[in-house]
Amino acid sequence: DWNMPDYVQEAITRIREQVGQDHVILGLSGGVDSSVAAALIHKAIGDQLTCVFVDHGLLRLNEAQQVMSTFAEHMGVNVIHVDATEQFMSKLDGVTDPEAKRKIIGREFVEVFQAESAKIQDARWLAQGTIYPDVIESAGAKTGKAVAIKSHHNVGGLPDTLNLKLLEPLRELFKDEVRKLGIALGLPPSMVYRHPFPGPGLGVRILGAVNKEFADWLRQADAIFIDELRMTFDEKTGKSWYDLTSQAFAVFLPVKSVGVMGDGRTYEYVVALRAVQTSDFMTAGWAPLPYDLLAKVSSRIINEVKGINRVVYDVSSKPPATIEWE
Ligand code: XMP
Repeated sequence: DWNMPDYVQEAITRIREQVGQDHVILGLSGGVDSSVAAALIHKAIGDQLTCVFVDHGLLRLNEAQQVMSTFAEHMGVNVIHVDATEQFMSKLDGVTDPEAKRKIIGREFVEVFQAESAKIQDARWLAQGTIYPDVIESAGAKTGKAVAIKSHHNVGGLPDTLNLKLLEPLRELFKDEVRKLGIALGLPPSMVYRHPFPGPGLGVRILGAVNKEFADWLRQADAIFIDELRMTFDEKTGKSWYDLTSQAFAVFLPVKSVGVMGDGRTYEYVVALRAVQTSDFMTAGWAPLPYDLLAKVSSRIINEVKGINRVVYDVSSKPPATIEWE
């Protein structure tokens, strides 16, 4: 366990000694680890850091704006925002297999990141938000999915092809220490205590073929679910249901069902709500969300989101189900 202010000073000194006058590139995803790494490295070397934020068009509602406002506007970090939505959508067009989708997203991500990085003059270092559990995990045997997590998350292969040295200032830290460090560095608690979000984003939450219309509907449904979780407090603990769940999100099912709205018949798509409680994400239980909360979320989604006329709640635990649907 570290004393945070001392740790920050020590880490800053170490980063300065390591990189000297060199320029550093960092792939910013908006997730906790890369955000904390960016804030720490920026504090150490300021303008010698350039972040590349690749928007694949499969992020949550307003996520790109939030990342840009936190880092570029408020903290003055150099961030290159690449909107690669069209490129990802066209590569994903008609692809239905989950692993094929993951591979395409991972490959395009690396390609876009590389193209942008190549434009940054004099870059010598690639910074990554690798944390201690990642170090242990990559050392052990892994399932197909876990390998995919690693290869996407840590942008595998990039240092080799870019000829960059690796800077990993969070390598010794556990997740809770990374969060404390993020707070000590002044990052907003809503960012530091955010639920995890997979690298392939909504790409694995739109079942089957992905398109922009489905992504827009899912983003709206997901935002409604998350808002209501944040605004609904449990009487016993006084905590919000967002804080009482480890991960919660909406999933778009490309299945149409019949409904009735006013005096007309509807024939639209289904959204599934997923909320889990877990300590390690290896096993997880579905969250016992209050019925009132589910009712509110359901009626808001059906009334506010075009294209959706039915909402269901996922009551599967992991195992045998996984947390994500793909
Ligand atoms: P599953 O669905 O395997 O998910 O129960 C366990 C945790 O891992 C996250 N996850 C991913 N994260 N890239 C990521 O960065 C991925 O491809 C990926 N797949 C799953 C998932 O959100 C959950 O927190």
